[in-house]
Amino acid sequence: MFERIERVPGDAILGLIEAFNKDNNPEKVDLGVGVYRDAAGNTPIMRAVKEAEAILLKNETTKTYIGSHGDPRYAKVILPLVLGADSPVLEQQRASATQAPGGTGALRLAADFIYTQLPGSSIWVSDPTWPNHLGIFMGAGLALYKYPYVDAENRLDFASMLETLKQIPQGDVVVLHACCHNPSGFDLSQEQWQQVLEVVKERDLLPLIDFAYQGFGEGLDEDAYGVRLMAEKLDNVLITSSCSKNFGIYRERTGALIVVAKDQEQMENVRSQIAIVARENYSNPPAHGGSIVMEILESEELAKDWRKELTEMRDRINGLRREFVEALKPHGLDEKFACVAEQRGMFSYTGLSAEQVDRLRDEFSIYMVRSGRANVAGMSSDKLPYIVKAIAAVCK
Ligand code: LMR
Repeated sequence: MFERIERVPGDAILGLIEAFNKDNNPEKVDLGVGVYRDAAGNTPIMRAVKEAEAILLKNETTKTYIGSHGDPRYAKVILPLVLGADSPVLEQQRASATQAPGGTGALRLAADFIYTQLPGSSIWVSDPTWPNHLGIFMGAGLALYKYPYVDAENRLDFASMLETLKQIPQGDVVVLHACCHNPSGFDLSQEQWQQVLEVVKERDLLPLIDFAYQGFGEGLDEDAYGVRLMAEKLDNVLITSSCSKNFGIYRERTGALIVVAKDQEQMENVRSQIAIVARENYSNPPAHGGSIVMEILESEELAKDWRKELTEMRDRINGLRREFVEALKPHGLDEKFACVAEQRGMFSYTGLSAEQVDRLRDEFSIYMVRSGRANVAGMSSDKLPYIVKAIAAVCK
């Protein structure tokens, strides 16, 4: 039977991890997969996470199931983090969170829920978007379409985005990146979010907001602007939140699908369906990552230190963005790459072509996604001269 199975290439992003590890060049630079790196190129365990794990090791009394919605304590800390501690949506009790295996697991829950409970709804993603969005949504059986987001000159094309959103059939789902757009790094301004809100209302669309990088753009609250606006002004919103990046617990698979409904009654109805979807996919989410997040956010002291370290991480990336453009000046390339200083989050669409990315890998052992997406966190002040020299060479 298996003789008919064809081999397929591995995932374009995760495959970079293996290729990088195999490279023996001591100068190699990993600008591939979206994980935070410090100046030494490591992805450290955050201080508060280490402390929370020590507490858990001492105090944890059971490893029994936590239920399809996950630990209720997790929902209690994640909802205010995402929606705001004084959110009217929480006050109105029309939001719920279901713990999920990472942001990816939350996206799959959302996709299966849409497929089974909102039959006929198609899904719209930005062009470009995180490539796995396509796999997740189409894998769940949804018809997928794209709206423009970045133009040929590598700029945010908001006018075309809005124009297309205005044509989307009523009842369809539109996927928005809350902040730190993956892969481009181009985010919407507050004014642009308000314009999107108007179109979503007018067309009666369901926003599905992917919130994987809270805290990596401008700040934990600032990055939530679009999410909170939509949640407060609309009757129906889905939000997929991830703790992988902002708590640095990638492998613990910690995320949530947040449902905002018109009222508590409708929220409970939707929530009951989501429990079924979770049960049929994986039954219960993994607990450890959620327990870490709870320990941190329930402790004033740990939460404070976590926020401090997250701020340091964000500041490092934003500093590197400016340093990178500055370092390109002597090569006459600062204007060409000026967008890197304006983009936010881990990623930048550099504007480099697939061929240039291939040359960077083959000639300089610099790894990034072939779309030209670079993980800025993989840069460091030490490595910048090497990186800009290589970029200058492939741009000649
Ligand atoms: C990325 O885009 O690099 C990250 O979100 C990691 C992943 O799962 O692709």
